[in-house]
Amino acid sequence: MIELRDVCKRLGSRQILDGLSLRVEKGMNYVLMGPSGTGKSVTLRHIIGILKPDSGSVRVDGQEVPTMDREQLMALRRRMGYLFQNGALINWLTVEQNVALPLEEHSSLSRSAIQDRVHEVLRMVALDHAKEQFPPSISGGMKLRAGLARALVTQPEYVLYDEPNAGLDPIISHQIHQLIAEVRDRLGVTGLIVTHSRACATQCGDRIGIIQNGKIEVEGTVAEMVASEHPLAKAFLGGGSD
Ligand SMILES: Nc1ncnc2c1ncn2[C@@H]1O[C@H](COP(=O)(O)OP(=O)(O)O)[C@@H](O)[C@H]1O
Ligand SMILES: [Mg+2]
Repeated sequence: MIELRDVCKRLGSRQILDGLSLRVEKGMNYVLMGPSGTGKSVTLRHIIGILKPDSGSVRVDGQEVPTMDREQLMALRRRMGYLFQNGALINWLTVEQNVALPLEEHSSLSRSAIQDRVHEVLRMVALDHAKEQFPPSISGGMKLRAGLARALVTQPEYVLYDEPNAGLDPIISHQIHQLIAEVRDRLGVTGLIVTHSRACATQCGDRIGIIQNGKIEVEGTVAEMVASEHPLAKAFLGGGSD
């Protein structure tokens, strides 16, 4: 379980997080929505320990992240995949080499065990046919699937998805949402998904929280949030939103 309690964080002259609390239960996808620049990515960075809160608590499975030493942080990050916008692939490595990277850096597996594991995740994201290609020659949807394969290759318990469908068309986005739901259902991965997209939130989320003024302003199950009369819920999840 990921649990943030009363997290406050000032960056520069702005109070970005101001008493933010949220809880991501095991095996669930929690969707974090909110206007741009409200601290969604900053929240994710607290969970992997890149940022420390000024006050408040950030826990993963009961362990306080801000007080972890280097070794504990490395161990935490092995259990946590991170999917960046556009996949964040390295252009001069093939898809297969990109996906293998985390295992080459963080595991003691043999070359052939790494290859087996890489092929398994590439099959899961339906990219085994493109493994020899370089990122500049593949589509946005394929890049994202390769990024997801790289996030999953270490068999993480958690995956943090930062705007997984930014810049993708609705059809490709739909495939990505299905994949994110499948990662939860087939692999039992717990997810925290930052998105602006109603489709993403409703197709792969279990709970949705909307951030404003540095805290979760409104929160509930997908069904509750879609039916909510709260202006923020209506803005992000109402009929007119996408
Ligand atoms: N390292 C940093 N130093 C100063 N300001 C930052 C830093 N990182 C993010 N910010 C600011 O914090 C705010 C929230 O950023 P972010 O979490 O990236 O927003 P979003 O909700 O769109 O993901 C933005 O105004 C951003 O400019
Ligand atoms: Mg962001």
